[in-house]
Amino acid sequence: MTAPARGTARFISFEGIDGSGKSTQIRLLADYLRSRGHDVVLTREPGGSPGAEEIRALVLQGDPDRWSPETELLLFTAARRDHLERTITPALAAGKIVLCDRFADSTRLYQGRGSSARRALVDQLHDLMIGREPDLTVLIDMDPSVGLARALSRQTADERFEAFGEDLQRKMRQGFLDLAADAPARFRIVDGARPVETVARDVAAVVERALA
Ligand code: ADP
Ligand code: TYD
Repeated sequence: MTAPARGTARFISFEGIDGSGKSTQIRLLADYLRSRGHDVVLTREPGGSPGAEEIRALVLQGDPDRWSPETELLLFTAARRDHLERTITPALAAGKIVLCDRFADSTRLYQGRGSSARRALVDQLHDLMIGREPDLTVLIDMDPSVGLARALSRQTADERFEAFGEDLQRKMRQGFLDLAADAPARFRIVDGARPVETVARDVAAVVERALA
């Protein structure tokens, strides 16, 4: 189901650990593409449609322990299904470029971690309910000590995942790199531990090549 990241990319996701600069870079990329005349939809997960934003509040705010891991996986998947139906699929059908801050790779890592059985469940649910990948995934990669310092400097209500700590973020970083190695046609890795403008230039170059 994965299209090559060259030539036809219209659905582009950004992935990376908390604080890696995804939101910053995706905004700059949207500005850049719009300035080049593209029709761009900028969206995010969990969220990106009214229903999915409601689910976002359920999973990212309040006591995280009120959900079992399985229920949490169902909530993230339900949010993604709604986001696909209401936002992503219609935008792609209208010829727009969709830029999505996190997608299914985040579920593979965050909800799929810990055991191969859990990861298998994530994959089964994805096949059943989502059934597609982005055309291109930009992985903003960096050492977690950099990302964590940035994340902790923010004061938001979405603090549960950012309380994970550096050790877990290190595993997440490696997990993203492993996913990228498994799907080299879809992923492009960009070094995020550089000034915003330098990273943005690389991101724009990667995406231009994929759109060309
Ligand atoms: P994410 O969406 O991956 O969690 P953000 O884009 O929100 O990351 O960035 C996290 C914090 O780091 C923000 O305060 C942002 O302004 C800052 N930031 C983003 N990119 C850089 C960069 N290249 N260098 C320094 N600070 C950055
Ligand atoms: P957010 O505040 O958007 O973080 P970031 O700016 O780092 O993307 O919070 C999203 C959190 O939700 C993030 O810690 C990762 C987590 N998440 C999952 O656990 N599973 C998922 O499927 C998705 C999309 C996100």
